Amino acid sequence: MRESVARAVRIIGAGGPEVLAIAEVDEPTCGSKDVLVDIAAAGLNRADCLQRRGFYPAPKGVVADIPGLEFAGTVLGVGDTVSRWAPGDRVMGICAGGAMSTRIAANEDTLLPVPESMSFTDAAAVPEVFMTAYDALAQGGLRAGHSVLIHAAGSGVGTAAIQLVKRAGAIAVGSSRSDDKLVKAKSLGLSESVLVTDKLFAKKLKACHGKGADIILDFVGAAYLSENIKALAPQGTLVVIGLLGGVSAELPLGLLLAKRARVIGTVLRSRSLAEKSSLTRELADNVLPGFETGELVPVIDRVMSMEDIAEAHRFLESNASFGKIVMAW
Ligand SMILES: NC(=O)c1ccc[n+]([C@@H]2O[C@H](COP(=O)([O-])OP(=O)(O)OC[C@H]3O[C@@H](n4cnc5c(N)ncnc54)[C@H](OP(=O)(O)O)[C@@H]3O)[C@@H](O)[C@H]2O)c1
Repeated sequence: MRESVARAVRIIGAGGPEVLAIAEVDEPTCGSKDVLVDIAAAGLNRADCLQRRGFYPAPKGVVADIPGLEFAGTVLGVGDTVSRWAPGDRVMGICAGGAMSTRIAANEDTLLPVPESMSFTDAAAVPEVFMTAYDALAQGGLRAGHSVLIHAAGSGVGTAAIQLVKRAGAIAVGSSRSDDKLVKAKSLGLSESVLVTDKLFAKKLKACHGKGADIILDFVGAAYLSENIKALAPQGTLVVIGLLGGVSAELPLGLLLAKRARVIGTVLRSRSLAEKSSLTRELADNVLPGFETGELVPVIDRVMSMEDIAEAHRFLESNASFGKIVMAW
């Protein structure tokens, strides 16, 4: 008989949401620098859908058949050398897989404290999108007064980015294919919104009196590449975070050169432990206080039961959500 059993969402084959099943799994083993967490809730991400379809396998050394990149819960136990956390602490964090489970063993340096007033379901909506948005804006060189075009402004990362841009004293411009989402995003701090109906948006952009965006956060990739370069201000930076609209396209190099612009690609999942730990510290110092003061809020479309994971994947892939979908045990 197994001693410690957890429950988890398992991917039982590559395909649609029907390949997801709740199953009993072995509890993960806790290394000397690890913290064993009793997970209460986990945020759903596009990467989970890609992994389910067989396109985005977990990195080496990470559980291959349990999706989930972020979680919130209570510390159950700690490894021999862990000094920062103790049983009973409320924590949240990112991981490279395995968060859609009742248990995870996470390195102590990748965990953040859950603010006192925040519920676990709210906390599960924070790590992945705020870390991604914070890091992408930092890579883009965000400064007060900058104008930042945030595509898919109603996405999880988009809703986090709008708030971070506003908090930095910069101007948040949002695009979406949905007018309804742009209206909702306005209440988070959008100064300008652009409805994209035909993949064209550069001419509609009024940012900086027509000068263009200093930074563009893009989740669409190929379908927006050429327009993105047109929409950049001189010396602007395009940060490619997602590829929802395709993986390859022509880059108008003449315009890139004339604008002295930069294009950066970024990903969190495959980063080293040292890089993730450093970003976690930055988030603790620079972003978490914003939740305490109320300047920042997790934006959640809905909380669903983990048992409804297949329905949650369908809903996320329908592009109808505004903010995060959180799965709770
Ligand atoms: N690089 C990283 O480390 C990292 C980390 C987190 C997320 N990501 C990626 O960033 C992207 C956004 O993640 P998220 O969790 O914030 O997404 P999300 O909440 O699921 O929102 C994505 C939104 O993108 C828009 N969209 C979808 N397909 C599109 C298309 N073909 N053309 C234009 N717009 C499209 C839709 O909004 P509208 O139709 O309303 O515009 C959709 O609701 C995903 O690709 C995700 O994989 C990357």
